[in-house]
Amino acid sequence: MFNIRVMTLDDYDAVMDLMRKTPGISLRDADSRESTSRYLQRNPDMSFVVEIDGTLGGCVMCGHDGRRGYLQHLLVLPDYRGQGIAHALVDRCLSSLEGQGIVKCHLDVFKTNEAAARFWQRQGWQLREDIDRYSFIRSGNGNA
Ligand SMILES: CC(C)(COP(=O)(O)OP(=O)(O)OC[C@H]1O[C@@H](n2cnc3c(N)ncnc32)[C@H](O)[C@@H]1OP(=O)(O)O)[C@@H](O)C(=O)NCCC(=O)NCCS
Repeated sequence: MFNIRVMTLDDYDAVMDLMRKTPGISLRDADSRESTSRYLQRNPDMSFVVEIDGTLGGCVMCGHDGRRGYLQHLLVLPDYRGQGIAHALVDRCLSSLEGQGIVKCHLDVFKTNEAAARFWQRQGWQLREDIDRYSFIRSGNGNA
């Protein structure tokens, strides 16, 4: 049985550890403790971790800009996959967004992450062919 609970800054080290171990998840300077603290404060009760037999087995981070939701860093450790945990984590995020009046959510997936693409499409998420994402880094820092 798994237990999903709200992620707090106390989970930071364990969550970063999960992410470092997981191919398909990329960590940036924006994942520093300071940035994560700011993110969790700006988006309270929208990011979640899952505990299975006392172990942190997965996580997801979610936030919004007032109009649209954004979902990041969904992962479930390999031993616990295929039990509906990711589905449940995403559902918690979407419910939290809906509670704030936000019914549309976006996410980015590396084009090389084919398993993630299959997962999202199976979950009913629409692959956007009609838009390109543009990014600009003001600091000149390539890992921002
Ligand atoms: C993608 C990931 C989060 C799925 O976690 P999970 O807990 O195994 O997923 P679930 O058990 O909730 O699966 C839900 C549904 O998606 C399907 N699914 C899950 N992974 C899938 C895959 N690789 N290919 C096809 N379908 C998949 C399941 O069969 C299930 O379908 P069903 O409800 O019709 O039976 C997990 O594989 C993972 O952590 N991958 C590495 C990190 C990553 O790439 N994250 C996404 C970055 S955007």
